[in-house]
Amino acid sequence: MNAVFLIAQQVLRVSFVGALILGLVFWTLRADSLLGLHMLFGILVVACLWTLGAVTIASGGGLPLSLGAIGLGLLVLLLGLTQTSLRPGPGHFPIQVLHLLLGVTAIGFGEMLGARRRRSRNGQAPPRSSPKTGRAVPERPSPLCPDGRFAAGFQRTVRAPFMPRLSWPGSWH
Ligand code: HEM
Repeated sequence: MNAVFLIAQQVLRVSFVGALILGLVFWTLRADSLLGLHMLFGILVVACLWTLGAVTIASGGGLPLSLGAIGLGLLVLLLGLTQTSLRPGPGHFPIQVLHLLLGVTAIGFGEMLGARRRRSRNGQAPPRSSPKTGRAVPERPSPLCPDGRFAAGFQRTVRAPFMPRLSWPGSWH
């Protein structure tokens, strides 16, 4: 499964660069003969993104990110297949920019899936995110040194049933 993921990620990167270069050449030079090759690279990008999403789901990885990648792939494909007929004439420019942006977002999703897989394979949990803001919450440093003693600068709190909570600054070292 890991080999499938790694191959799909490399093919995604190469196809993205190919699709981007050919798309930009097509855009600036109107080289119509490159369009077929460009579409082939674009379809490879989508297929690889779907593979990354499917492998991530199959190995119990992040469902929202994987579903987002699969949905985005569908959007890239649908827009690419229909965009020549969408708003032809001067109003076509926003469609072209949207097409480019969706393609760049596709590689972003591929890289995010790759980073998530690397983290989980290294045994690191993905960073926790706040349920309110959705932003990553930094991990709190542990107050304990490897030898089990309190690190300098951490407060020690003493609780006893007959005493209110007491704390004082300082270290055990
Ligand atoms: C990573 C994926 C992709 C990137 C980065 C990309 C990029 C580009 C760029 C920069 C252009 C020139 C500007 C424009 O006309 O929109 C273009 C044109 C085009 N692309 Fe893509 N593309 C991608 C995927 C696809 C896919 C999957 C398809 C279809 C299967 C596709 C079909 C087309 C077509 C038909 C055009 C010419 C459209 C026109 O003349 O308006 N592209 N692409």
